Amino acid sequence: MRVLTIIPTYNEIESLPKTLTRLRNAVPDSDVLIADDNSPDGTGAYADEIAAKDPQVHVLHRRGKEGLGAAYIAGFRWGLERGYDILVEMDADGSHRPEELPRLLEASKAGSDLVIGSRWVPGGSVVNWPLRRKLLSRAGSTYSRLMLGISVRDITAGYRAFRRGTLEQLDLGAVESVGYGFQVDMTFRVARMGLRITEVPITFVEREFGASKMSGNIVFEAIANVTRWGLSARWKKLTGRG
Ligand code: GDD
Ligand code: MN
Repeated sequence: MRVLTIIPTYNEIESLPKTLTRLRNAVPDSDVLIADDNSPDGTGAYADEIAAKDPQVHVLHRRGKEGLGAAYIAGFRWGLERGYDILVEMDADGSHRPEELPRLLEASKAGSDLVIGSRWVPGGSVVNWPLRRKLLSRAGSTYSRLMLGISVRDITAGYRAFRRGTLEQLDLGAVESVGYGFQVDMTFRVARMGLRITEVPITFVEREFGASKMSGNIVFEAIANVTRWGLSARWKKLTGRG
């Protein structure tokens, strides 16, 4: 099975080198695609240097900061076109430990259509997050779970493995979320198709360098979308339409 790990980057020059080295050591078989949004700090140029030396590393240069969701959609398309069987999402900042990827891949190879590296299942945890981020993540997951009627515990998680068939069945062009709500969007779509989702516990370690790109706008987009999707699903159920 050919694996492609997609790493979206925006100003990750301090973190990317270490994450790449760890990933290449932990899972040497996985190819890597860095999806960079023209980072002003030179992350894209650094990625090019590595790609010139390592044939398993590739770079997708994007015009400018267009959001996590858009970067991943472009990365998925790139990988599907080139025949990869498993497409992995991983943050550049070291929060998603590459050493845990083999466990996600195992579940994927065993037949899970979407594997989620989960902070909020037994055995999962978060290291070095302020209380406010923990609460935001847990509240976001709980609200989404209730609103959308799905049982996933860590709905916004960004450490994932998709089987290619899962992405082929989704209409990638219809995914409208640009921020981190993209993760909820994808989970909801996969769940509605009746596909198999597995949560594997992970230890999420907060970044050492650089800054989070999480913003009020991103949170707002996610809450607004989840509310809209939840209400519209209920309405369809009530009226028997859709
Ligand atoms: N190309 C691109 N474009 N990459 C981006 C963008 C963007 O607009 N915004 C963020 N990224 C990249 C970052 O460079 C990093 O590699 C990754 O996406 C995650 O961004 P962070 O800013 O480090 O996210 P976080 O730590 O606050 O959020 C974590 O938790 C979220 C909520 O659970 C991540 O794991 C998210 O994936 C997750 O949704
Ligand atoms: Mn982060």
